[in-house]
Amino acid sequence: MASHVKVEPMVHPEGSGISFGANVSDVDLVDMSDADIEIIAKAFYKHHVLVFKGQGHLSPRAQFEFTRRLNSAATISSPHKDQLDAKSFLLSPDLNTVPHQPQVQIIGNGFVLEHEGAKNLNLRYPHHRSSHSTVIEAQNALDYTRFYRWHIDADLYGAPPPVATTILAVKLPKRRMQTIRYDDGTGDELEAPLGTIAFASGEAMYNLLSEEDKAFAQSTKVEYAAHPYLWMASAKSHPTGLGLVSEGKELHDDELPPIDPASIQILPMCWRNPVTGRLALQVHASVVRRLHLGNGKVIDDLERVRDILYRFQRPGIAPQLVYTHDWEEGDFVIFHNRGLIHSVVGTLAEDEVRIMRQCIIAGTEMPLGPGAA
Ligand SMILES: [Fe+2]
Repeated sequence: MASHVKVEPMVHPEGSGISFGANVSDVDLVDMSDADIEIIAKAFYKHHVLVFKGQGHLSPRAQFEFTRRLNSAATISSPHKDQLDAKSFLLSPDLNTVPHQPQVQIIGNGFVLEHEGAKNLNLRYPHHRSSHSTVIEAQNALDYTRFYRWHIDADLYGAPPPVATTILAVKLPKRRMQTIRYDDGTGDELEAPLGTIAFASGEAMYNLLSEEDKAFAQSTKVEYAAHPYLWMASAKSHPTGLGLVSEGKELHDDELPPIDPASIQILPMCWRNPVTGRLALQVHASVVRRLHLGNGKVIDDLERVRDILYRFQRPGIAPQLVYTHDWEEGDFVIFHNRGLIHSVVGTLAEDEVRIMRQCIIAGTEMPLGPGAA
């Protein structure tokens, strides 16, 4: 049966440099044909963020099934596509999950008596106070905010990075605006709705590089730390949320759980989009340990590694290039984890209750590098 799925590229405000995002309608996510999923998977690779409105009825099972089908359809080159492992990726062991669908996590803010069978949830929205090297002064804490941490949803140790993340907005606090401060001496600021998720394009990041830097990025590989999130747990973020400041707070190998050398990931700095063929600069700067250059040299000095990555990535998070999603209850957002970096944003008061459901499934193979056809 022919598909009626409608994909409309987002119209961004005048002066915006954002080149991604689309709204998708006329599809029943619970009962999709193969033709529907194919159109959605293609749109996903082309537009990177897809928004489906009015999906509040989507059950955790339907969300998981959709995420699995999309991942499978999106893993176009995988020879193992039929054996797709539904292993879920967890950002943190203390995340709350839906008891009857543990691949779906409940995230948000405030006390929730019951949601999908999970009881007495104390949801905590992350606050930059716990992670940044400098913080916004207390008297401005509800009006101003920061990017919490620019990242890719990935373990980056062991399993391949997930292709797609799906998030459903179940319950939101009353809408208000906040100002994101970059606080890096540039004066950059960005107005955004409370509790937005911010996206920046890895393709834009790559395209903004000089020819010399593009050549460097194409030939360089990024080594992620073993047990990356434990390794950097005490280190503090740059005020822009892009990478960490170097204060020697990372753990030494003997302070980490046993390391499996085969799980350490050394990935290309640029990942090729398997559908459009475009290159994206895709780096989760906060967990990078070393750079392996094309000429065989290794940059091991963390401060130098971070300086290079920051110089490469910062232009791509300029205010006019960042898409901040204005959530409405029932919004179902899927985003391309191999073409974008994203950040949680915002400062929610304790009584601002928010419930979101998130599903992230590990990829079946490593991302394609620049050399892929
Ligand atoms: Fe994330």
